[in-house]
Amino acid sequence: MKVAIGSDHAGYALKEDIKKVLEGRNDTIVDVGTGSESSVDYPDFGIEVARLVSEGKAEKGILICGTGIGMSITANKVKGIRAALAFDLYTAVQSRKHLDANILVLGGRVTGKGLAEEIARTWLDTPFEGGRHQKRIDKISDWEKGHLSP
Ligand code: RB5
Repeated sequence: MKVAIGSDHAGYALKEDIKKVLEGRNDTIVDVGTGSESSVDYPDFGIEVARLVSEGKAEKGILICGTGIGMSITANKVKGIRAALAFDLYTAVQSRKHLDANILVLGGRVTGKGLAEEIARTWLDTPFEGGRHQKRIDKISDWEKGHLSP
């Protein structure tokens, strides 16, 4: 699977850990940065990953900032993005099964390495259930068509 990944400085260390998980699964990684713990602005990286997913250049995305909230707000501004901030395995699984989330967001200052790695693995492996959930996602997409460009 082709996975785009990005973080700000507060998520950098966890991004490097999650990249090792992706390498272990033989996923193709598109790392948009950041490349160190020097202070940067999370929207620059959140928009980049969200655009790659929105434009079909990556199948899924993973974003990490300190809380995960800034990246969630950012990514969900981009058309076609359903970014889910997950703090545990239940929310990670439900975000795939019911919401077909295409970006996983993690909080680098909130979630420890071991749990975050397990969340990422589980999230990537959990399929969308479709059915009644598709209709609800379609309602979001329909609203986007009338309000977001392009
Ligand atoms: C950076 O200090 C911090 O504000 C950012 O990583 C994030 O937590 C925002 O949601």
